[in-house]
Amino acid sequence: MLRVVVCVSGGGTNLQAIIDGIADGRIADTRIVGVISNNAGAFALERARRSGIDAVCVSPRDYEDRAAFHGALLERVNGFAPDLIVLAGFLVTIPPEMIRAYPNRIINIHPSLIPSFCGVGYYGLKVHEAALKRGVKVTGATVHYVDEGTDTGPILLQKSVEVHEDDTPKTLQRRVMEEAEWVILPQAIDRIARKGHMEWNPE
Ligand code: GRF
Repeated sequence: MLRVVVCVSGGGTNLQAIIDGIADGRIADTRIVGVISNNAGAFALERARRSGIDAVCVSPRDYEDRAAFHGALLERVNGFAPDLIVLAGFLVTIPPEMIRAYPNRIINIHPSLIPSFCGVGYYGLKVHEAALKRGVKVTGATVHYVDEGTDTGPILLQKSVEVHEDDTPKTLQRRVMEEAEWVILPQAIDRIARKGHMEWNPE
C-alpha cells in the first residue's frame, strides 16, 4: 500500500482527483495518509476532512521565522511516514532538507508543458497568462519529480491541451485542470504505486 501525503494551498481540485481516483480504482493500492496545507482557509482541507483524511495546517504565520516553519513542516510530513509526497497546488518552496529527506519521493503537478512557462513566478493563473501572451496553440500540464530547483526535476508525465481563440486565462486554466492535471496526476501516482519509483519508465 503506497502511503501518500498531499500538500495543498488552495481549492484542492487536484487532491479531489486523487481521492476520486483511489475510490474508483484508477489509482491502485494507495492511501492518502495525510493532507497538509500552509493555508488554514484552503478548501482542500475541507475536501480531505469530508473524505475522512487527516488534514492539518502548518502555517508560516505560526512560526518566528522560515527555518522554524520548514522544521515544523518536515516534522509533520515525517509524522505521516509517507512513501510519496504529492505537491498539488502547494505554493510553498520545498526546503532543501525535505528534498534531501525524500529523494525522488516528491512529485509536483505544474500547469504547463515544462520547460515552457515554468520556474520562479510561474504559478496559478500567471502560467496561463504567459501562455496566452506568447500565443502558443498548445499547452498542457506536467508531473515531475521535485529537486532543489523550481520545476526542474525529472519529468514523469505530460498531457497537452489545445488553446482556443477566445480563451481567457481563467477558461484556459480550467480546461488544463480538467483535461490534463486531473488526468495525469492520478496516473502518475497509480504508476508509482504499481511500479515503484526507481523502475519508472514512462511508456
Ligand atoms: C491550479 O492553478 C493548478 O493549475 C495548480 O495549482 C492550482 C490550484 O489547484 N496545479 P487545486 O485546485 O488547489 O488543486
